[in-house]
Parts: sequence; structure tokens; C-alpha cells
Amino acid sequence: MTRNADTLAFVGVTATRSWINRLFPQWASALGITGTVLEPIDLPLDTDPAGYRAVIADLRDDTCVRGALVTTHKVRILDATSDLFDELDEHARLLGEVSCISKSDGRFIGQAKDVITGGRALDAFVPPGHFASGAEVLCFGAGGAGLAIAVHLLVERPAADRPRRVALVNRTAARLDACQSVLERLGVADRVELVCNEVPEENDPRMATLPDGSLVINATGMGKDRPGSPLTDAARFPEGGIAWELNYRGKLRFLEQASRQRAQLKAVEDGRRYFLHGWSEVIGEVFGIRIDGAMLRRLSAIAEAERL
Ligand SMILES: NC(=O)c1ccc[n+]([C@@H]2O[C@H](COP(=O)([O-])OP(=O)(O)OC[C@H]3O[C@@H](n4cnc5c(N)ncnc54)[C@H](OP(=O)(O)O)[C@@H]3O)[C@@H](O)[C@H]2O)c1
Repeated sequence: MTRNADTLAFVGVTATRSWINRLFPQWASALGITGTVLEPIDLPLDTDPAGYRAVIADLRDDTCVRGALVTTHKVRILDATSDLFDELDEHARLLGEVSCISKSDGRFIGQAKDVITGGRALDAFVPPGHFASGAEVLCFGAGGAGLAIAVHLLVERPAADRPRRVALVNRTAARLDACQSVLERLGVADRVELVCNEVPEENDPRMATLPDGSLVINATGMGKDRPGSPLTDAARFPEGGIAWELNYRGKLRFLEQASRQRAQLKAVEDGRRYFLHGWSEVIGEVFGIRIDGAMLRRLSAIAEAERL
């Protein structure tokens, strides 16, 4: 791959189909980085460690590449390439994932931004005091995003407004073991139930036991990265609860299931707000730009206009 302009890479599963490809030129103009190019890189979910190393080494060695945003692959990429980085931030080391890659003074830097960006998105639609009522959290998928959101809820949210209990339901046990060690290091493992399951029929009754007001999250990628929903169509969301689908494109069956029960829910949120916070944080980091509230609103307005 020959590059001849300042490049921000985007590593994902279907990165070439993301909304950001249409938005980036307009955002770049608003941010004063016109001439910068976004390069989407699609990698299959079963990419092997050698494949990840080839991609990350290329990004590191090409001086045109200013940095990258990594989605979906962020845990497996750090597993396969940690020795290629000169520096990893505290969250990357703690969570074992890298979602933001940047360069500074010749150093190749990996950061994990989901605790910050997922947290900002969540705090925008889960009102202050929400968890004081005893509401809990059920999160399907304990990958990079699911675990980071749990960490935000249990460690970063104000102490009087944290859920009493978070359940993380994940397909493989190995990933749950990794989550357990992170949660133990943070001293919050006793507030988290780790469940190994991928059968929707077993998730429905689990959701039915949640207290009113609970937050239910689809962080599996189902609906976008693979078809389906972690729930069946018969599942009942909690009264006054909040449903959060982390994605905003694809056949989002979880979002459809929640939307059909909108009347009894406090909120049904998709991944657009998370997208805005995630991208603005990484662009700010990679290009050394401070993105304040006014600029964030401007980027959001550009994004919403581009959806029409
Ligand atoms: N809107 C945004 O800006 C935004 C930001 C972040 C993430 N996202 C989206 O959120 C999704 C998750 O992101 P991520 O980075 O956390 O990806 P990830 O690291 O691949 O995590 C997905 C997790 O879901 C688990 N899983 C898959 N199918 C499952 C099922 N049927 N039941 C239970 N667990 C299941 C996987 O388990 P195993 O690995 O154990 O198989 C994996 O741990 C992706 O689709 C991503 O695009 C969107």
C-alpha cells in the first residue's frame, strides 16, 4: 500500500462500509485538517496473529500514517502485537486492548479509549442518579467494549450512582477469565456476575429477573458483525429500563426488539452517540486537536445531516 498523504487508518470488520467514510472529509474540514485521508482496513473476525502483526507493523513503519482507530479487533490485536508498541496507556494495559493508535516524537503509542468514550456516551442518556433506585445492568458480550462499559459503571461513575450488580454474558469462557482478572485488579469482581452463554433462550429468563429501570446492552456485535440478537423475540425488557445497542448500522434485531417495547422503556439508544465520542476522541488524540463541546456539537450536526 503506497500512501502519500497524512493518513488516519480505521481497522474494523466492515470498516469500508462505515458511516465515517462519508463523514471524515467534512469533519476534517471543520477541524482544520483538510488533506488528511481516512483509510478503512477490513479484517475478517478470524484474522490470525501474523495477519494482525503485518497490519500493525505497516501502520507503525509508514510515516504517512498518523494513527488509527481500532474497533472489534482491539483485544486480539493487542494480544498479537503488544511488543510492537513503545508505550501503552493504563487502560490498554489493564484491559488488554488497544482502540487508539498514535505517534509522538517517534514513539508508537497504544491507548484504550472505550472506558472514556463509552462512558461519555452512556452518561449522556443514563440520567444522573439512575442507579440509585437499585437498577442493575445486563450486558451481552464481554469483549473490549462490554468490559470497558462495565468498568466505567463500577469504577468511574459517581459512587452513589453505580449499579449494585452487573452481569456480563459472553460466548466463550476464556474471555470471561480475562474479565475476571481485570475486575479483581479493580476490586469490583464481587459486583459482577460472569455468565458463559450464547443461547438466546437462556438470556430471556435472565433478563426477566432484572429490577425495574435496569440497563440492557447488546455488545456482542450481533446484528452487525454477525446476524441475530442475543435475545429471542419473546424477551421482555425491564419496566422503565434502558436498552443500548452499541451499533448503529446493520440489521439490528436487538434494537428492533427493544423499539417494539419502547412504551415501557425509559430509553432505547443506538450506537450513534458512542460513534461520535469514539471518533472525536481518537481524532483529537492522533492530530493533537482539542475538541470542545461546541466542536462536538458541530461534528454531531454534520453527522446527522449526512444520514439524511
Ligand atoms: N458505536 C460505536 O462507536 C461502537 C463502539 C464500540 C463498539 N461498537 C460495536 O460493539 C460491538 C462490540 O465491540 P467490541 O469492541 O467489544 O468487540 P469484541 O471485542 O469482538 O467483543 C464482542 C464480544 O461479544 C461476544 N459474543 C459474540 N457473540 C455472542 C453471543 N451470541 N453471546 C454472548 N457473547 C457473544 C464475543 O465473545 P468471544 O470473543 O468470547 O467469542 C466477544 O467477547 C461491535 O460490533 C462494535 O462494532 C460500536
